[in-house]
Amino acid sequence: MPAKVVVIGSLNMDLVTRAPRLPRGGETLIGKSFATIPGGKGANQAVAAARLGAQVSMVGCVGNDAYGEQLRGALLVEGIDCQAVRVVEDSSGVALIVVDDNSQNAIVIVAGANGALTAEVLDSVDAVLQSADVIICQLEVPDATVGHALKRGRELGKIVILNPAPASHALPADWYACVDYLIPNESEAAVLSGLAVDSLETAEAAAAHLIAAGAGKVIVTLGAQGLMFANGASFEHFPAPRVKAVDTTAAGDTFVGGFAAALASGKSEVDAIRFGQVAAALSVTRSGAQPSIPTLLEVQAFKS
Ligand code: RIB
Repeated sequence: MPAKVVVIGSLNMDLVTRAPRLPRGGETLIGKSFATIPGGKGANQAVAAARLGAQVSMVGCVGNDAYGEQLRGALLVEGIDCQAVRVVEDSSGVALIVVDDNSQNAIVIVAGANGALTAEVLDSVDAVLQSADVIICQLEVPDATVGHALKRGRELGKIVILNPAPASHALPADWYACVDYLIPNESEAAVLSGLAVDSLETAEAAAAHLIAAGAGKVIVTLGAQGLMFANGASFEHFPAPRVKAVDTTAAGDTFVGGFAAALASGKSEVDAIRFGQVAAALSVTRSGAQPSIPTLLEVQAFKS
């Protein structure tokens, strides 16, 4: 039986345009294309973990609308257990995404039904949390729910991963001790630590700060520069595999899901990091969130 990853988080329909560049304030640009693509950081991480070898359950909420059906359907076709995905009286979460010619993106999310994932809903699906080897959370559902999930994960003795995305403010101090692996990107590490993060050295400083706050281990993802891993005793820089980027949307999610799947399957931390990096690198060579996430066979066949 593959190891079990439980993802607690968001499902969004991504409304994606490609444009030559990101618009400035007050500007109207002519876009090149438009597509609706299943996304949401939680759902993307669930799809990544499932395609990359784990048995996965998703805990979240969708609206009672067409997007909600499509978002749930997109997880079901991956073999993801959706018994803990509630359908609520609201619109499904959406993300408005612009991707430019340099493969960079700008995203605005509207939580919609994701806001209905409360601590009470989590308690009602506690059996799903109990079935996990690894629990993953992000920050696109209410903070109170994330805090509850982290504490329950710790109580149950699970491996707890927090991808603090998107980060708009410092985390509650009592969350850190519940987190085994904190996985921010540069800007999230900066918000959480209060330090500027724009180099390997400053990523080390931010990671050290977050470990001092109580996080078990910290992985600061740095885009094309790879990532900085801090285990409390030392720092290690992992350069990123070199690929031609087309769209970086969901690269971080693919890393998190791949890392979790590999860790749950018994790989060492270092091997799980390298595995997640290859998966993320492959994802940036393709457009969209969930369609860009590679399979286990693609990761195993990757040659840099
Ligand atoms: O991380 C990428 C995701 O962020 C997108 O799929 C979008 O839904 C937003 O949540």
